[in-house]
Amino acid sequence: MPNLYPLIRPVLRRLAPETAHALTLRALEAGLGRFMTDRAARQPDPPMLAQRLWGLDFPNPVGLAAGFDKDARVPEALRSFGFGFVEIGTVTPRPQPGNPKPRLFRLEEEQAIVNRMGFNSGGLDAAVDRLERCRHTGIVGVNLGKNRDSSDAIADYAEGIRRASRVADYLVVNISSPNTPGLRDLQRRAALQSLLAPLLRDRDENRRPLPLLVKIAPDLTAEEREDIASVALAAGIDGLIVSNTSVGRPEGLVSPYAIESGGLSGRPLFAASTALLADMYRLTRGKLPLIGVGGVTSAAEAYQKLRAGASLVQLYTALVFAGPGLVTDIKKGLAELLRADGFTGVAEAVGAPAARFRNSSEAVAAADLPP
Ligand SMILES: Cc1cc2nc3c(=O)[nH]c(=O)nc-3n(C[C@H](O)[C@H](O)[C@H](O)COP(=O)(O)O)c2cc1C
Repeated sequence: MPNLYPLIRPVLRRLAPETAHALTLRALEAGLGRFMTDRAARQPDPPMLAQRLWGLDFPNPVGLAAGFDKDARVPEALRSFGFGFVEIGTVTPRPQPGNPKPRLFRLEEEQAIVNRMGFNSGGLDAAVDRLERCRHTGIVGVNLGKNRDSSDAIADYAEGIRRASRVADYLVVNISSPNTPGLRDLQRRAALQSLLAPLLRDRDENRRPLPLLVKIAPDLTAEEREDIASVALAAGIDGLIVSNTSVGRPEGLVSPYAIESGGLSGRPLFAASTALLADMYRLTRGKLPLIGVGGVTSAAEAYQKLRAGASLVQLYTALVFAGPGLVTDIKKGLAELLRADGFTGVAEAVGAPAARFRNSSEAVAAADLPP
């Protein structure tokens, strides 16, 4: 089957970002995903990339981050790009339109995106229904949010847990989107404690008690990081996703869209999100599986996330710039980097101290690893 992505890509790049995204989803719904990758994407993963976490067998550690398939329209087509897992959402209990357009901006110069989508969502009913009907074979996480006009965040997340537990493999409480007013305040110690206790109770009472993760923002003070780590450990959540998009703008961005309000993702987010990841690994003393996300564009960066303490990684923005073939490239490179450093599997490299690294040190140094 020919890989037509190199032909499609220039067309997509000329369209407005949200139009290009809508068109991509439609093409995937129409079953055209198999024309967007080559045969390598359909080969089984090297066994050394496999890992068992939360009782789930991940064939490889590279996942699709939330936001690409918010309404669970094409999880299976996305898995067939070679992802080890796919996270759908953020889905809110009731449908809502999100913010006015334009709300999605490509920063070509930086290979970054600024978005202020604002949880545009078809709602839980539609997403759960789709997941029930589609025959998906891989691991699917459901990322849960609250409605913008809801005054009871706990009730919204609880509803998400109750209804998505039937169809998900893991659940994510997203309290870090910068585009829903007040949402990130739920990351503060007292708010987080009062949110997580009832949600974990609801989760435990469910007929299918699923792993429950919390997704955090990159823009956190040292005190907020410590608070989140201690609440996460004490409450007994199953993992953290580090991180969402940033309201900050690193110096030196030249794209005219850098000044748009919203969350920044892609290349310029790598350093901050990886430093936060390393911090959260240290603060949780390696006791909590972490998913590292933010600015992964290559195998070397995925490897750095593992070294910084991630058990799994996710990406979104790099897929927009490099296309689906990137997933295969990252997996291949990751296996090589692991092998070069004498690891026999992914889990061994998670948070492994720098002394263990010999042969891949050049690649890692090139990507500016935190100490
Ligand atoms: C257009 C867009 C929409 C997003 N929507 C969501 C979302 O609904 N929920 C969420 O948790 N993260 C969302 N994200 C954040 C990503 O999941 C990810 O955390 C972030 O983009 C950093 O990864 P990246 O640099 O690989 O893109 C979105 C990102 C983008 C670019």
